[in-house]
Amino acid sequence: MPTIPDGVAGAVITGWGTALPPKVLTNDDLAGMMDTSDEWIQERTGIKERRVGGTTAGLSAEAGRKALEMSGVDPARIDGLILATTTPDRTVPATAPTVQNELGLRCGSFDVNAACSGFMYGLVVAHGLITMGAEKILVIGTDTLARITDWEDRNTAILFADGSGAVVLERSEGKGQLLGWDLDADGSAERFLYAEIGGYLHMDGREVFRRAVRIMVDSGEKAMAHAGVTADDISLVVPHQANIRIIEAACQRLGIPMERTATVLQHTGNTSSASIPLALVDALDDGRVQEGDLLLLVGFGAGMTAASAVLRWGGVSA
Ligand code: ACO
Repeated sequence: MPTIPDGVAGAVITGWGTALPPKVLTNDDLAGMMDTSDEWIQERTGIKERRVGGTTAGLSAEAGRKALEMSGVDPARIDGLILATTTPDRTVPATAPTVQNELGLRCGSFDVNAACSGFMYGLVVAHGLITMGAEKILVIGTDTLARITDWEDRNTAILFADGSGAVVLERSEGKGQLLGWDLDADGSAERFLYAEIGGYLHMDGREVFRRAVRIMVDSGEKAMAHAGVTADDISLVVPHQANIRIIEAACQRLGIPMERTATVLQHTGNTSSASIPLALVDALDDGRVQEGDLLLLVGFGAGMTAASAVLRWGGVSA
């Protein structure tokens, strides 16, 4: 179990931003394209509508710019850009350098692909860079899954969508926000959700559902154990936004009621790497997070991967 050694540099999130493409695709729109219905989609997934369109670089730059502006950090002072995405705009180069150039950053920039756990992988890696001497890291989670979704396949088209969320992480005095974390993967389950290069997403929905609940609980419990906290201490769970029924089942097993859970999937669908920052920013905007609150961020996705972090919110102006 990785625990955070005493004395390492801490970090706090000092700015955040999101971006969604303007085009709204409702369940009724989908019902006009394939054999499905608004009632079925809402009952089985919780999703009412989603946004589609844009590029990974374009959405990332928009969300990243907002996060930088909020933090007040001069782009030239950012020490690293981590872009979590499973839908880069091209195979070569990575999309992060394109975003770096658009935002006027002068730093190492790389993509991280851990599917829907990507933002959490990026956040943990960013903390690692800060312990190695970096001071300010921009972490962006963006996916444009509409481009790899078969819009004639009702098994997948009802779920996936596009979006972006970004945070600026800055070195702080003291322990910082991260109290515990977990990164996990089980490559033996890769066949349940995949897209070949140039191909569409294929998914065994029932198997993904079953495993998603299990690994979300497992990863969340590991992060809480590393942080030395229990489910009762958690003020808000910010889960990957795949399906409301997965979130309900996992939260029930974690012992955390849905009132203490952040959800945006009703209006965003499953935006993969973007979903956790989208839900986090929505909760922050709604005033649902106070100084000192403990947050549990939990991601899970293709791979199958899982990743979690316990953050003590606060010190934002540090
Ligand atoms: N509209 C209407 N009917 C449908 C649709 C649809 N879009 N899709 C399937 N059906 C039908 C099926 O054909 C089946 O009919 P039958 O009983 O006559 O055979 C019936 O509805 C039930 O199908 P199931 O597949 O059992 O439906 P289920 O309740 O499992 O819901 C779903 C399917 C929503 C895909 C669910 O399995 C799920 O959410 N799985 C997890 C998906 C997910 O979260 N993936 C991403 C996670 S990781 C990541 O984010 C990358």
